[in-house]
Amino acid sequence: MLEIQDIHKTYRKGNQIINALRGLSFVINENESFALIGPNGAGKTTTIKAILNLIKIDKGKILINGVDATLDENRKLIGYAPEIPYYPTHMPAINLLKVYLDIYGKNISYDKIEYYFELVNLKKFINSPLSNYSKGMLQRFSILQAIIVEPKLLILDELTSGLDPIGQYEIIEIVKSLKQKTTILFTSHNLAEIEQICDKVMIINKGRGIFYGSISDLKNQFGKDLYRIFFELIMNDNKME
Ligand SMILES: Nc1ncnc2c1ncn2[C@@H]1O[C@H](COP(=O)(O)OP(=O)(O)O)[C@@H](O)[C@H]1O
Ligand SMILES: [Mg+2]
Repeated sequence: MLEIQDIHKTYRKGNQIINALRGLSFVINENESFALIGPNGAGKTTTIKAILNLIKIDKGKILINGVDATLDENRKLIGYAPEIPYYPTHMPAINLLKVYLDIYGKNISYDKIEYYFELVNLKKFINSPLSNYSKGMLQRFSILQAIIVEPKLLILDELTSGLDPIGQYEIIEIVKSLKQKTTILFTSHNLAEIEQICDKVMIINKGRGIFYGSISDLKNQFGKDLYRIFFELIMNDNKME
């Protein structure tokens, strides 16, 4: 469903050149739950922005169902919960969602909208402005605005970062309930949380893939302790430069 082929991206910051992506490739199959894992600055968000055509890549190809991802029609297949969301906070949550649905050209019944609010545990707050939402509630709202358009590909960028364990648990349970309904691309640096959700993982460091497979492949190859595996893979990769 999604093919990333040898993508490269360089940013310029003053006279500094940052090689954010250096030949990253992977494939996500239909209805797979896929995790892109890597330390801060590894290139996860840059990859996502490239898929969404929010940035131009320097080299490589991104295909959705075999078609160039930069085409507008592809954007409508994707629901996206950004790492750092900016939402207007003054209007009732439901009104804001209606704006998103309009942008996507979707017409969904009030019952269905209520159903989605219930799914992310926000039904009681359907008429509250987002200024009244806590961080965890905002993260769940992010999932809500991404799934309400009933996307073929759901992209969730570091949704559990900065949440307490209960907030993280709530998000993981929601994502589990979405598995099989849509293809999921999830980013995080928490392997233990990803183990519960994802069929396949791609570990990236400094813009390149360093492991591709399932969590059980990872454990079979490197041992049981996910934190240690992550630490050693990244440290070894850093040493090679
Ligand atoms: N707009 C930008 N301008 C300059 N550098 C950027 C920009 N966005 C990201 N970067 C740099 O690109 C690298 C990858 O960033 P990012 O994709 O955000 O990583 P991740 O999401 O894995 O933490 C980092 O070194 C980051 O500082
Ligand atoms: Mg990021």
